[in-house]
Formats: sequence, structure tokens, C-alpha cells
Amino acid sequence: MATAQPLILPEAGPFALYVVMKATGDTKALVERCQQVHSLVDEINSQQPGAELRASIAFGKAFWTSLEKGSPAEFEDFAPLGEGEVTAPATGGDVLLHLNSSRHDLNFYLLRQFISPIAEHVEVLDETYGFKYLDSRDMTDFVDGTENPKTLEARQDVALIKEGDFAGGSFVMLQRFVHNLPAWNRLNIQAQEKVVGRTKPDSIELEDVPAASHVGRVDIKEEGKGLKIVRHSLPYGSVSGDHGLLFIAYCHTQHNFRAMLESMYGHTDGKTDQLLRFTTAVTGAYFFAPSVEMLNSL
Ligand code: HEM
Repeated sequence: MATAQPLILPEAGPFALYVVMKATGDTKALVERCQQVHSLVDEINSQQPGAELRASIAFGKAFWTSLEKGSPAEFEDFAPLGEGEVTAPATGGDVLLHLNSSRHDLNFYLLRQFISPIAEHVEVLDETYGFKYLDSRDMTDFVDGTENPKTLEARQDVALIKEGDFAGGSFVMLQRFVHNLPAWNRLNIQAQEKVVGRTKPDSIELEDVPAASHVGRVDIKEEGKGLKIVRHSLPYGSVSGDHGLLFIAYCHTQHNFRAMLESMYGHTDGKTDQLLRFTTAVTGAYFFAPSVEMLNSL
């Protein structure tokens, strides 16, 4: 089987960097730089033992299509969702660089190395540094990741396209959420648990998960089988400025993302995810992360 990009399958380390870029100049120079990312990472890892730096590079639909490598059949652009108070924008992007490591400084260092020779060919649309918070909690203070596929086999099964021209590749969904923590913290613990659908101290699923809770919206079964995605989200931000969750996930099919988003934003049955009363998406995009072999062949 084709090789998945190194970041996708291992569990996320404590520090991440999510960079969404727009191509503004020489596409060829940009693609060549993308092809060099994994050797840049190897170099840094050999100089910095224990860094566990890993990367994945993914492309937005228009940019990918321009490379004339064909397109996975279901590859679509992110469409805006919701209405009224609860909406999600589609903000696009040509290239996504996703880094993960045990050190914040090395994520920064790698991005500088990556950008410096191609600075005139890209514009950075969003550069967000994520960090593991407490015992893997989101800033709502609920554990995030409990139901994420755990074993390598399960993660492979969920994240990677199995066969055909795009085998070893993966679809990526990204949304940056800004939390309203003062509003969230006005709820008592029982009310917060009803919004999430799990208990706060130990992340146990409630006996009666409310249909409009977050878990009630995204734990979807089709023909008796649960829809799964591999999440790599981490909290980000500053206390005095924006903060929240950088949501990012990988999947062998875009269908699972769409089904979850439509359920969260009221498109499926009119019910909206109650968590969205306390957090707002400010970015939204889909990307495709080709296998290492396909990336090298672009
Ligand atoms: C579960 C937080 C956005 C998909 C969870 C859980 C929390 C959480 C606390 C329960 C623990 C766990 O299983 O990880 C958040 C926050 C979000 C957010 C704070 C935004 C600010 C999203 C989005 C999606 C999503 C946008 C997908 C479109 C899932 C899935 C689960 C989950 C699939 C596991 C459900 C299950 O099988 O029980 N999330 N989430 N989440 N979330 Fe989110």
C-alpha cells in the first residue's frame, strides 16, 4: 500500500502548527517546496533527538485540480453551513501544512525554513499554534479525543483511502473555533454535561445523550455502523485574545465530515449542536493529503 504522510496515523503530540496558505506566484516552486517538507523534518529530527516532529501537506481543491493528477471522485470544497446565529464560513486555502511535535519551537523553526525560499509565492492566510491543554482537555474543560480511533489499525482504516489511484491519501477537514468561555462558565456542570453529552471529570457518555448535545449530533450510525474520523484537534490562542479549538481531522471519505457538519448545523433535522452556542467557527476548509509517493510525483 502507498505510504501515508507521517503525521496522520500517530497520536498527536503536545504541540501543533496549522498553516493555511494561498498560492500567489510560481506554483512549481511552491509544489517543490512541499515535496521537501518531509526531508526537512527528517533533518531536524536527526539534530534534535526526542523532537518527534511530523508533518502532513494537503491541498485545496482548486490548487490540486490545477496539478492535473486527477481528483478523488468526492473531493468537494467546504460549503458554508447553518443560518442565523449558528453559522460556519468557508474560508478556503490552497496548501495546508500541519505539523506536530514535542516542541513548540521546532514547529516555528520548520515553518520559517519552509517559507523562506518561497515567501514571494505564498500568502499565509492562517497560522495557528496548538498545544495540549491539561489532561487532553478542550478549553471548555472537557476531555477531547475519548472516542478517537486508538490503534494503528483502526486509525489506518478510518483515515486512509484503501485502493485506487489515491490509495494512502486522506481527506482533511479544518475549522478554527473561537470560544466564548465567560458564557460557557455561566452554566453549571450538569448543564455543561448535557451540552457535550459526556461527564466532565472523566468523559463518560451520559446514559441518556441529548439529541442536540455535541455527542448526540456527531455520533452518527449509518446501516448500523458508526461514522468515524481521526481527530488531531488541539486548543490554541491567548487568554486576552481569541482562544478555542483548532479542529482538524483526517478521513478516507469526505462523506463522514459532511454528515457530522450537517447534523451539527441543523441541516439534517433542524436541531443544532448546543455546543455552537458557546463557540464560533471562523475558518472552514477541506483539503486532500496525498500519499508520500503521490506527493513526490507531482
Ligand atoms: C467528540 C469537543 C467540534 C466531531 C467530542 C467530545 C468533545 C468534543 C469534548 C467528547 C469526547 C470525545 O469523544 O472526544 C469539541 C469541540 C468542538 C468540536 C469543543 C468545537 C469547538 C467538532 C466537529 C466535529 C466533531 C466540527 C466534526 C465535524 C466529533 C466526533 C466525536 C466528538 C466524531 C466523537 C463522538 C463519539 O463517537 O462519541 N468533541 N468538538 N467535533 N467530536 Fe467534537
